[in-house]
Formats: sequence, structure tokens, C-alpha cells
Amino acid sequence: MSDPHCPFAALSPQNPDGLLALIAMHRADPRPGKIDLGVGIYRDADGRTPVMRAVKAAEARLLAEQPTKAYLGSEGDPRYAELIAELLLGPGADDPRRFCLQTPGGTGALRLGAELIARMAPQARVWIGDPTWPNHGPIFSAARLVPIAHAFFDRATGTIAFDAMMAALADARAGDVLLLHGGCHNPTGTQFSPDQWRALAQFCIARGLLPFIDLAYQGLGDGLDEDAGGVRLMVDAVPGAMIAYSCDKNFGLYRERVGALWIQAATPITADLARANLLTLARILWSMPPDHGAAVVRIILDDAALAQDWRAELTTMRARLNAVRGSLAAAHPALAAIAGQRGMFSLLPVGPDAVARLRQEHGIHMAGSGRINIAGLSPANLPRFTDALAACLPGDGAPRQDAPPRTTICEDMER
Ligand code: LMR
Repeated sequence: MSDPHCPFAALSPQNPDGLLALIAMHRADPRPGKIDLGVGIYRDADGRTPVMRAVKAAEARLLAEQPTKAYLGSEGDPRYAELIAELLLGPGADDPRRFCLQTPGGTGALRLGAELIARMAPQARVWIGDPTWPNHGPIFSAARLVPIAHAFFDRATGTIAFDAMMAALADARAGDVLLLHGGCHNPTGTQFSPDQWRALAQFCIARGLLPFIDLAYQGLGDGLDEDAGGVRLMVDAVPGAMIAYSCDKNFGLYRERVGALWIQAATPITADLARANLLTLARILWSMPPDHGAAVVRIILDDAALAQDWRAELTTMRARLNAVRGSLAAAHPALAAIAGQRGMFSLLPVGPDAVARLRQEHGIHMAGSGRINIAGLSPANLPRFTDALAACLPGDGAPRQDAPPRTTICEDMER
């Protein structure tokens, strides 16, 4: 019973997060042949998400050898930052105009970055392609910034609507922020070509925009260096950039929450200024980042044998994802674009009615937007999935009439 005297009675009811609600919905489905294409975690062909071999070995070493759990400070572990720098930015990453803070996951990096923007440019609007990861809009809103959705995806072809995107961005003004997915776009699986990255960099320079790149799937697209190509092109070109990085997926460390926020400034002096502000903000938000997952990443990347094994296992994961993409694309003309997409996700050309029907009639669970986690499919369940899906797909590759209407990225909705 609600008590008006209770201080918490003033709170408004909340819709559960759509993606997280999918975990519970799939768990509660008693059908043995159910298929989980919901939340973005890697699964092997048997549907398992094992702890990676190198992670297990590093954890054993950490347990045996860690001398202390004393605080590290708001910046986190500097060695972790150095090693991630090399992974992300390649050789020569060590530059006094750049620095990195360890954060709780990529979400922590996004929120920390949003708070920095709110300090330095409180009027900034944050341009975000639609569709996007549903948490993007709320993260920037929570930092008192205004997210604006712009055209991004051509649902009919399953590709980036680059011309429409650039036309929509004509309204961006100096000081605004352009949020870009570094690759393996969530939810569409699309990626900018190197030429598009160059064009975006020139556009940011010409219009005075700050690019903020979210890179959460490095190594799960075409390769570790290939997947960082866009980021590297951008940071080499522009005077200022931010990168939210996540090790949650490529190290399989999801619940450990391992991320980093990168800043690239025009000069070492402005980099120092940004660093000092970020340390203050991190102290307010979480004081100091959790260490376990980052320590595991550090141990792996600091040890040639472990790093090699991690790369090998990541290669196997990536090959599996891309093989599933190939099989899906071959199964129906309306799915052909999936072969050219990368990462964990693809957005099917189906609407919410079809999504509900697939769940109710076939035990196939996916986000309401039609986003599927490619890793939920395997040779064992793919035929059943494509058979059930075929009944919902158009014959000619065009989206069906019940495809979801365009939405703003700020809406609280199941995606
Ligand atoms: C997803 O998009 O499924 C993942 O990034 C998990 C999440 O936090 O939403």
C-alpha cells in the first residue's frame, strides 16, 4: 500500500530497461528449445559464455600474487591505461596530448565524459544516430545535456544512410558533440568505411564539433587493428576527441565492468586541464574504479603468452560471429545485408508484432526493435530460427509494413 508520508512515495514509477528485462523473460521461458538473441554477450556454439582461457589464468595469478588491495586512486591503474592505449591507438600511443582514465565499464566512461562536456560546454547538444544503444540518450540527459537524434540507418538496405546523416548534421553548431560508434554498431552491425571516417573528421574540424567515440567491441568485427581504424583516423585528424572504451566484450569480463575514457586534446596543457577535471568528476561519481577486471586485462596484455592466447580466442569468437552472419545472410534475400555487417548485432527488417509472435509462438527472444544478438545463433538452432523468421520477412528485402516507426533516442522504450 502506498503511504503518502513515505519520502519515497514521491518517486515516479519506472519502466524496466528493455534489454535487461529480456534476460528475465528468457530465463522465465520454460520451453527447452528457446533461443536467446537478447542482451549482448558472446555465446559459443553450445550457447555458453565461458570465461576466456587467458582471463582464468590471469585471475589465478592475481589471486596468488596480488600483494595488496590498497586504493589505486581515481585514475585507476596507470599500467592498464598504457596497455589499453597501445591496443586502441597502436604504436606511438604515448603522446602528452592524450590520456586515459580507468572507468567502470564503457557506461562509466560515457557518463564521465558526459559530465566533462557538461562542465566545459553546458549548452552542447549531443548528436546521436538513430537507432543507437538505448542507454546513450539517458546517459547524456542525466548529465544535463540535450541528446538529438539524427538520421543514420537505412533499414531497407541494412546500411548506413551516410548522405541523410550528413544532411541532418547540417544543423549542428560549434561546440556540439557528435557521438559515433567506433565499429560493430549496436544495434545495426554497420560500420563507417575509412572514407566516411575521414569525411566525419573533416566535418568535425570544419564545424567545430567534438567527436565522442564509443568503442565497445574492438576485435569482434574484422580484427583488433582493423576495428580501431576509425578511431585512429579520427584522433590523428582532429584537435580534440573523446573515446569511451570497453573491455567487457572483447575480454568477456562483462560483470567485472572494465572500461576507460580517453581524451585527446590539442596541447599537453589542455590535456592536463581535462585530466584534472576528470579526476575531480570521477572522485564525485565513484571515487575510484573497480580494479579486478582491469588487473586481469593488465596481466594478460603484459604477458606475451597470455596476450597471444587471448588474441587467439578472440579470433575464434570473431570467426564464429562472422560465420553465423554468412549463414543468416544466405538464408533469405531480406537478410543479405547481415553478411556485410559486423559485431554482435543486427537489426532485422521486422516490426514489434513479428518480434512478439516469434517470442510467443517459437520461444525466440530478441529486443522489441528487432535487434538480434548474432552470438545467440549456432548451426543447431539456426534452421529453426530462419524457418520461423521467414514467415515474418518480406520476399523482396523491403521492410514489412509493421516495421517500427522512427523514434527519438530519448524515449524510454524497449529496443
Ligand atoms: C547490449 O546492448 O545488449 C549490451 O551492451 C548490454 C547492455 O548493457 O545494454
